Formats: sequence, C-alpha cells, structure tokens
Amino acid sequence: MKLQVVLSALLACSSAVVASPIENLFKYRAAKVSHSKTINSTLPTWSSSNGSNTTYANSTNSTTNTTSSEKSQLQIIVTGGEVPITNSSLTHTNYTRLYNSSSALNITELYNVARVVNETIQEESSSGAVVVTNAKSLEAVAFFFSIVFDTNKPIIITEDSAYAIPVANDKKAASRGVLSVTSDKLVYSGVFTPASACSYGAGLPVAIVDDQDQVEWFFDASKPTLISSSSVIRKEYSNFTTPYGILQNGIPVVPIVYDGGYSTSLISSLSSVVQGLVVVSSGSTNSTSSTIESTKIPVVYAEANTPLNFIDAKDVPKNAIGAGYLSPIKAQILLSIAAVNGVTSKSALENIFP
Ligand SMILES: *[C@@H]1O[C@H](CO)[C@@H](O)[C@H](O)[C@H]1NC(C)=O
Ligand SMILES: *[C@@H]1O[C@H](CO)[C@@H](O)[C@H](O)[C@H]1NC(C)=O
Ligand SMILES: *[C@@H]1O[C@H](CO)[C@@H](O)[C@H](O)[C@H]1NC(C)=O
Ligand SMILES: *[C@@H]1O[C@H](CO)[C@@H](O)[C@H](O)[C@H]1NC(C)=O
Ligand SMILES: *[C@@H]1O[C@H](CO)[C@@H](O)[C@H](O)[C@H]1NC(C)=O
Ligand SMILES: *[C@@H]1O[C@H](CO)[C@@H](O)[C@H](O)[C@H]1NC(C)=O
Ligand SMILES: *[C@@H]1O[C@H](CO)[C@@H](O)[C@H](O)[C@H]1NC(C)=O
Ligand SMILES: *[C@@H]1O[C@H](CO)[C@@H](O)[C@H](O)[C@H]1NC(C)=O
Ligand SMILES: *[C@@H]1O[C@H](CO)[C@@H](O)[C@H](O)[C@H]1NC(C)=O
Ligand SMILES: *[C@@H]1O[C@H](CO)[C@@H](O)[C@H](O)[C@H]1NC(C)=O
Ligand SMILES: *[C@@H]1O[C@H](CO)[C@@H](O)[C@H](O)[C@H]1NC(C)=O
Ligand SMILES: *[C@@H]1O[C@H](CO)[C@@H](O)[C@H](O)[C@H]1NC(C)=O
Repeated sequence: MKLQVVLSALLACSSAVVASPIENLFKYRAAKVSHSKTINSTLPTWSSSNGSNTTYANSTNSTTNTTSSEKSQLQIIVTGGEVPITNSSLTHTNYTRLYNSSSALNITELYNVARVVNETIQEESSSGAVVVTNAKSLEAVAFFFSIVFDTNKPIIITEDSAYAIPVANDKKAASRGVLSVTSDKLVYSGVFTPASACSYGAGLPVAIVDDQDQVEWFFDASKPTLISSSSVIRKEYSNFTTPYGILQNGIPVVPIVYDGGYSTSLISSLSSVVQGLVVVSSGSTNSTSSTIESTKIPVVYAEANTPLNFIDAKDVPKNAIGAGYLSPIKAQILLSIAAVNGVTSKSALENIFP
C-alpha cells in the first residue's frame, strides 16, 4: 500500500480535526527542507526555497489609516475572516492584508503571520496588534501566538475585527498573553480558545464585550500557567519565541490521527516521514493499551471532546506523551513548535506539555 494512502486512512476526520493545519501539512510531503546552515544575514528567509517572498506579496496595498495624529496605533493584520468597513474604531488602525484564506493556516503561514505581527509590535508607536483570521484557524492561531509571543502588548486574534478592536484598545488587555475573541463576543486566553464558538468547557472566558463595545473583564490581568514567566516554556525554551529554528530544522509534519488498532509496522514506517504524531484518544481517557506509540518520533495523546479531560502519562502507552488539557489541534501546534526548535525527546516534551 502506498504510504499516502495509508496516511489518509489513518487521518482523523472529525470536523475539528479537518479544520486543522494538518490538511496542508499533509500536502507537504518532503519531510525536511534542506536549509543552508550558513545564515549570517540579519533576517531569516522564511520559506524553504528561494522565490520565497511570495507569501508577502500583496500585503501592502490595502494599507489605510483611519484617523491621524495620536501616538499609538493599532495594527490589524488580516489573514481571512471579517473586516467590516467601520469608523467606530477607538484609536488609529492600520490594516494590512496578508492572506485572504478561508481554510486553516498551516505552520508556514503561521510563522509568516507571526513575523509580520512581530515587526509591528516592536514599533514603539504600536499599541498592540489584532490578527483577523477565519473561524477554522482561530484556535490554532491563538494558541500558536500564545506560545510564540512573550510580550505585554495586547495581541488579539479574532474572526471579526469589530469585536477585537475594543478589546485591543482596552487598557486592561495588557499582560494577559495573547487573547482571542470569538464570534459570540467572549474573550478567551489564547491558550484556552475553544475549537469553535459555543464549545463551552474547552476554556473559561476572561471577559465579555458588551453592546456598547465596553469590555467587562472577569479577572485581573495574569497569564496562563502554561506560559507564565515561571513556566517551563518561558524559562527553558526561550527559543520558542524566535523563528530561527525553522531554518535549521525545517517545517515539521505533525499529523493528527484517530486512535485505532493499527499495526506497529505501520506506525514505525510513519515515523520516517513525520516529525510527530497527535493521537485523538478514543472515548475514555485510558489509552494505555493503544498500539500507537513510537520510540523514534514523539506521539502525543489528546482528547477531542469537551468538556475538558486531562490526559496524563498514566493514560497513554509507555512511549507516548499525554497532552494534559490541550486539544488535538493545540497539541499539534505545540508539538510543531517544539519540532521546529529541535525539541523531540520524550522527557523534554513531558515537561512542556501541561
Ligand atoms: C502552507 O500553505 C502555503 C500556501 O499558502 C503553501 O505554499 C505551503 O507549502 C504550505 N506549507 C506547508 C508546510 O504545508
Ligand atoms: C557571513 O557571510 C559572509 C559573506 O557571505 C561570509 O564571508 C562569512 O563567513 C559569514 N559569517 C558567518 C559567521 O557565517
Ligand atoms: C535560487 O537559488 C539558486 C541557487 O542558490 C540561485 O541560483 C537563484 O538565483 C535563486 N533564485 C532566486 C530568485 O533567488
Ligand atoms: C522577491 O522575489 C523576486 C524574485 O524571486 C525578486 O526579484 C524580488 O526582489 C524579491 N523581493 C523582495 C522584497 O525580496
Ligand atoms: C491595490 O491594488 C489593486 C490592483 O493593483 C488596485 O486596483 C487597488 O486600487 C489597490 N488598492 C490600494 C488601496 O492601493
Ligand atoms: C495615513 O496617515 C498619514 C499621516 O497622517 C498620511 O500621510 C497618509 O496619507 C495616510 N494614508 C492614508 C491611506 O490615508
Ligand atoms: C461614520 O459612521 C457614521 C454613522 O454610521 C456615518 O454617518 C459616517 O458617514 C461614517 N463616516 C465615515 C467616514 O465613514
Ligand atoms: C501600516 O502597517 C504597515 C505594515 O506594518 C506599515 O508598513 C505602514 O507604514 C503602516 N502605516 C502607517 C500609516 O503606519
Ligand atoms: C494576492 O495576489 C494574488 C496574485 O496577485 C491574488 O491571486 C490574491 O487574490 C491576492 N490576495 C489578496 C489577499 O489580495
Ligand atoms: C520578534 O522580534 C524580536 C526582536 O527582533 C526577536 O528577538 C524575536 O525573536 C521575534 N519573535 C518572533 C516570533 O519573530
Ligand atoms: C487503563 O486500563 C488498563 C487495562 O485496561 C489498566 O491496567 C490501567 O490501570 C488503566 N489505567 C488507568 C490510569 O486507569
Ligand atoms: C531550544 O532550546 C532548547 C532548550 O534549551 C534546546 O534543547 C534546543 O536545542 C534549542 N533549539 C534550537 C533550535 O536552538
């Protein structure tokens, strides 16, 4: 059987998972891109080959600024989703369209968006950034940015910029990590963004935006434990907040598959083409007898259903890792970021995952 056929048979296909970056990750078959190691230029080239600057292509021409003459400016990066023509924004906004995608952004695109957001928030004059994306990408983008950005400036991920601008302009939005605003106007920490609006239980909202565009915060500002300043990720993996690993280690392929009775030889043949595997554990949290595990690549078990379940080391096969409270898509993003940075050992990953 051809490997691709096997892989597509293995692929999980619940709606949440189909909406994940996996779709595109899978189309990308070359496991690793050969990158020149002699990168001593100041800026990394982001895509694998040359002809690389295409992803940036038409980013500039929709730059508008609504008003003038106040210092701080809100940068709005558009990758899809809703951008209403509105004049109700509270500060100056600068729209930059990067993609107009209706499918889930893949890891390359995520790093490209991060680069643009990073450039804008480094500017003294920027008060923060809003990233407008499509509904399918919201959970992945919000979680990705939560890990990749360690800043106190507000970065808000949303499907509709009208909901996010009041949040980004709210003084109390700072120092909470990346936030997301769902289409029901609830504000979540990026680490806990639900897979879709209304999938309650995936995370606790931290605020609500009312009809007058006032933001009512439920809690004082603080960051989620996963990415707080005392977290393992921030203390030991400061390189997660840099993009440079993608040059050394290439673009990882981390599929999400359903748990099932697959042969061990199938799993071991998979390990030569992917950098990690996320397994959606079936039904109960006890997957200890599952046959999907590997000593060659990291295998992470995650639970797809809400309300949240916690998958720890006791719930998974000996050579696998539990994703804790992370959903399959969040686990996929975290595993991909780790792979980009060459972090693949079981013990290291067990520390990183909740
Ligand atoms: C991500 O999507 C872009 C198209 O926007 C494609 O060119 C690129 O190869 C994809 N990357 C991966 C890793 O699939
Ligand atoms: C930087 O690039 C220059 C010119 O390509 C090369 O001579 C030099 O050895 C490089 N330095 C490093 C540290 O790679
Ligand atoms: C792509 O790389 C090749 C080999 O390094 C080089 O000859 C070519 O000029 C590059 N093309 C562009 C558009 O940079
Ligand atoms: C983009 O790539 C084209 C050809 O690949 C090159 O001519 C052009 O200078 C590049 N633009 C930038 C901004 O690097
Ligand atoms: C963007 O580019 C298109 C095509 O070149 C052009 O028709 C349009 O007027 C440009 N928009 C702005 C705001 O410059
Ligand atoms: C944006 O603001 C600057 C400075 O106020 C002004 O020079 C420029 O023309 C404005 N651009 C647009 C597209 O309105
Ligand atoms: C701003 O909104 C008001 C009320 O919706 C409208 O009357 C006005 O024309 C708008 N101004 C601009 C510049 O769009
Ligand atoms: C808007 O953002 C783009 C991209 O960051 C930047 O190049 C441009 O100068 C900004 N425009 C204004 C008026 O600040
Ligand atoms: C970017 O440009 C390409 C080709 O020029 C076009 O097909 C695509 O629709 C443009 N995307 C956006 C967001 O304008
Ligand atoms: C953002 O820019 C800073 C300063 O240039 C850099 O140290 C950091 O690695 C960048 N982060 C990302 C995610 O690109
Ligand atoms: C999982 O099930 C196996 C046998 O089915 C049992 O031995 C094991 O104790 C269970 N683990 C947990 C954490 O319940
Ligand atoms: C990132 O940091 C970790 C922990 O310090 C290290 O093991 C890993 O090799 C680093 N990755 C890169 C690409 O430098």
